[in-house]
Amino acid sequence: MSKISINADRLLGRLRELGEIGRDPSGHLTRLAASDADKLGRDTFIRWVQTAGLDVRVDRLGNIFGIWGELSPDRPGPLLVGSHIDTVIDAGKLDGCYGVLAGLEVIQTLMESGKVPDFPIAVAAFTNEEGVRFAPDMMGSAVFAGALSADAALGAFDTNGSTLGEELERIGYAGAEPVGFFRPRAYLELHIEQGPVLEREGVDIGVVEGVQGISWQRITVEGQANHAGTTPMSMRRDAGVAAARITTFLDELANAGAGALVATVGCINFSPNAVNVVPGKVSLTVDMRSPDLTILKSAETRLAGYLDRLSGQTGCAISSERLAMTDPVLFDKDLVRTIERVAAARGLSSRRMTSGAGHDAQLLADIAPTAMIFVPSVGGISHSPKEHTPDDHLVHGANVLLETVQSLSLA
Ligand code: GLV
Ligand code: MN
Ligand code: MN
Repeated sequence: MSKISINADRLLGRLRELGEIGRDPSGHLTRLAASDADKLGRDTFIRWVQTAGLDVRVDRLGNIFGIWGELSPDRPGPLLVGSHIDTVIDAGKLDGCYGVLAGLEVIQTLMESGKVPDFPIAVAAFTNEEGVRFAPDMMGSAVFAGALSADAALGAFDTNGSTLGEELERIGYAGAEPVGFFRPRAYLELHIEQGPVLEREGVDIGVVEGVQGISWQRITVEGQANHAGTTPMSMRRDAGVAAARITTFLDELANAGAGALVATVGCINFSPNAVNVVPGKVSLTVDMRSPDLTILKSAETRLAGYLDRLSGQTGCAISSERLAMTDPVLFDKDLVRTIERVAAARGLSSRRMTSGAGHDAQLLADIAPTAMIFVPSVGGISHSPKEHTPDDHLVHGANVLLETVQSLSLA
């Protein structure tokens, strides 16, 4: 097979351009799912998909597909590549966008090279991967893969009381296709590592064998708002203290897990949130992850037991609501080996690894052979404006994706 390479300038230029959409005047990038900024990002992506000559299809969940070739109900579906273009708050420009734009770049490169694949190839931009505005995360791919109902996803509320369904209608991305209107024959996702391993070890490519499980909960603590000066310590029902203890409990639980468990309280809301008022109500989020389902489940059980005891100790009512739960997944062994072989053939070093971050690929793995390719993240930083990967690594990763797609789709 002759070696071709992606058009690096086009890929890097598009990454830069998409990375400017949703940037506020002070330079912070936020493109939450189904927001005005997301609409502009989607419009731009679709313009590029159309320029490349692909057929654009949007499903009811707003998942966007650019398809090269004819889908037929009688044959297995396309080889699918992709990721997401929604972002967290104050994001970097690579998380998700790299996989989507590199997917498009790979298809465009193959089209321009005159190669004709044995079956359709498609690029996907899945809706609301981040889950920051609407829970759960990986929502578009979860519905696509049949792990979540479309009605549940479209009915999810943001903190202003709008549903995803209403917001997709508003921005013009409640598409016509039924969710899951095709079943991919395989799925590949290229992504920045978002962690420190590849950079620390000086390795070019991460060959991802699986993704750790994710458990999200929202905990609500209800105490008694009262005067901060007049209420004796012994007579308080301080929801803020309970929230602080929950945070400390989780930190200790994860630190005792010898690397097999991570836990984060990423969001806390105090009410009434005033300097001289004992907090009457606090809601906080819990994100726990482990590659081992038994450890994750046991962490959930231990947290539930702690909340019961804490409620007795503090006199606060404590309730919890599940926001998301994704089991750990293992990717397809043949695809993992193919990626490893392709990296070596391109003269790139690689190592196998488990993803710490959640990805659409972990949902797709339920319905199709799936694997992921990682490139290094400088300083291991992501979900931050400091997220960065040098251009040569971005290009290497896209070429590994290109050659993997080639080796799967061209005789
Ligand atoms: C997705 O970005 C995650 O939270 O891992
Ligand atoms: Mn991502
Ligand atoms: Mn992310």
